[in-house]
Amino acid sequence: MQKTPVILVTGANGQLGRCFQNLESAFPNWRFLFADSTHLDVNARRNVFAFFEKHQPTWVLNGAAYTAVDRAESEPERARAVNYTGAKNIAEACARLGIPTIHFSTDYVYHGGQNTPLQEDAPVHPKSVYARTKLAGDRAVLRHNPLMGMVIRTSWLYAPHGHNFARTMLRLGAERPELNVVFDQVGTPTYAPFLAEAVLHIIGLVENGDVAPTSLAGIWHYSNEGVCSWYDFAQTIVDLAGLPARVNAIETKDYPLPAPRPSFSVLNKAKIKSAFGLEIPHWRRGVERFLRENG
Ligand SMILES: NC(=O)c1ccc[n+]([C@@H]2O[C@H](COP(=O)([O-])OP(=O)(O)OC[C@H]3O[C@@H](n4cnc5c(N)ncnc54)[C@H](OP(=O)(O)O)[C@@H]3O)[C@@H](O)[C@H]2O)c1
Repeated sequence: MQKTPVILVTGANGQLGRCFQNLESAFPNWRFLFADSTHLDVNARRNVFAFFEKHQPTWVLNGAAYTAVDRAESEPERARAVNYTGAKNIAEACARLGIPTIHFSTDYVYHGGQNTPLQEDAPVHPKSVYARTKLAGDRAVLRHNPLMGMVIRTSWLYAPHGHNFARTMLRLGAERPELNVVFDQVGTPTYAPFLAEAVLHIIGLVENGDVAPTSLAGIWHYSNEGVCSWYDFAQTIVDLAGLPARVNAIETKDYPLPAPRPSFSVLNKAKIKSAFGLEIPHWRRGVERFLRENG
């Protein structure tokens, strides 16, 4: 008889983690373990190994991350503890059990001057503490779980819960007459429920024997399809939500932040689409769904 998959989600109360929680009921034959930092601090190496020994997961989705991009500039050790050491601990514990690690990362690792969609082997050039610690984490996952370490880099993640740009625009668009948003940073928003669904689809392919678990190893890109600036994204949210606010396009130099942002973050998703037969929706479909699901 086939063993029931036991899927551990770390950082389970984060944006992406909560999307996996929302999908649990759609997979009644799988067992999910949702652990946030209070249940499982990924930085606490001995606890990670003890947790794995006790619960014997067969998959780990590492949603734990330090994502305060600007704050990371003033507390690099805290960012590194989660994004690098935590990822390393998780990958090592997975390798010991011989199970896959699905780890999530960011377009920020590239930060190049490119203007065509970035492939997984594009040169990395992280320019902030957040980006450097995330890249170190990606490399740790690939090194310490070389057979089944899957690193999915995504961009501009947002969900109907948590702190994100889309929810901020909805709130400010209702409060203020005008919003100033940068138009010289281009990328693609990713509606987190789509990413969570894609990940569970991939797990299903492996569980059904359609895909070998070792074929997961490596770097993969996932975002929604299409291209826009933050200004376009904001304008679309305001338009589709029917808000009266005027959205002004401004330059990055007029909105200084502690951590630099990449000017071009469009990810090429050809690899993940062809390997797992994924159909990825356009980012506008994400905004429409977000407006229906936002609580
Ligand atoms: N948000 C974006 O725009 C974006 C873009 C590209 C890629 N990503 C990547 O996508 C992934 C998911 O992002 P997200 O937006 O879902 O992040 P998020 O909402 O910030 O969630 C991260 C979760 O990690 C938990 N966490 C922090 N330190 C931990 C620790 N030591 N042990 C265990 N859990 C810990 C946090 O819990 P506490 O609140 O209890 O600390 C939080 O629930 C991350 O890897 C991120 O780097 C995000």
